[in-house]
Amino acid sequence: MVGVPAHELMTQLTFRIIARSVFSTNFSGAELDRVARLITEIQAFYVRTIRQPYLNPWFRLRGRFRYHDQLTQELRTLLSRHIAARRRENDLPAATTPPDDLLQMLLDVRYEDTGLPMTDEQLLDEALILLIAGHETSANALTWLLYLLGQHPAEAEAIRAETAAVLASRGAGQASATFAFEELPRLGRALQAVQEAMRLYPPAWMVDRVALADDEYQGLRIPKGTLFSLYIYGLHHAPRHWQQPTEFQPQRFAPGQTPLVPGAYLPFGGGPRLCIGMQFALTEMQLVTLELLRHFEVELEPNQPVILTQPLITLRPKGDFQVRLRLR
Ligand code: HEM
Repeated sequence: MVGVPAHELMTQLTFRIIARSVFSTNFSGAELDRVARLITEIQAFYVRTIRQPYLNPWFRLRGRFRYHDQLTQELRTLLSRHIAARRRENDLPAATTPPDDLLQMLLDVRYEDTGLPMTDEQLLDEALILLIAGHETSANALTWLLYLLGQHPAEAEAIRAETAAVLASRGAGQASATFAFEELPRLGRALQAVQEAMRLYPPAWMVDRVALADDEYQGLRIPKGTLFSLYIYGLHHAPRHWQQPTEFQPQRFAPGQTPLVPGAYLPFGGGPRLCIGMQFALTEMQLVTLELLRHFEVELEPNQPVILTQPLITLRPKGDFQVRLRLR
């Protein structure tokens, strides 16, 4: 049995999933690793400039802004090369069917009002936001789920029991195939565990808004420009909305349970800025959970330091932790 760093492993996994979903054909493994490293390094720096702004003069003096601008340029150049290559492939007279990926969707889409496609800069920005928004959040949710399943082996067994029933119902020779999209509705326990993990540890634990105009809420004057933070972590733990709010109880999300209080569960935000990747992420996390538990026993490494939360832009475990994965 090997101990592996949970957050690092889940980050590698979710980055590969989103990178292949956006650029299905283009990247070599080495290039993917470089893109992942660039994104991580750039993000870590800018998170510090936001959360510890008093350090910015020091960063400027030491050339840290210039250095990270160079990394950003490297990242944009790398992705631009692949977007340009895809454009060229699409323009070939005998072009075969284009790849079925998100980059192709972005290339094919036309603005409703002008009928025009996206410019190269827009394409690049959209591809980048999908890569960034589309992996760290899912990695955090899956990491916390590993942590919770490590503490609640009975929940892992319940997921495996459901999996076994679905596998047993398959035709001859199909038992070892990966899960099909059509099978997912019959594998709800894994999804409920994912949903409950995101209630206890919402990856987007806080979202920010700025008042665009003077406003008022329940007698409180809100001047234009006010910065708000919606405290999603607090909502997800409020005793007035949840029974035994600190307990891991995936069954709360099972069909037939007491309906959730509207607005009390917002892991993907809400309203016009609701996460565009919600369905993608839920399906991805359900599949990862199913495959992981199907092939591995998951245990927390004993005798490691207490696992604490680190609320940066997203909610991650402080300093990572080790899980033991044993092939079943
Ligand atoms: C567990 C996984 C995820 C969580 C918890 C999550 C959470 C969120 C939240 C809370 C917001 C709204 C932020 C706000 O209101 O300020 C958001 C927006 C967004 N998410 Fe996700 N997300 C996840 C996965 C993904 C994935 C996989 C993608 C891409 C495939 C993605 C792409 C985006 C984008 C592009 C936005 C901005 C949408 C807009 O402003 O119109 N997210 N996400």
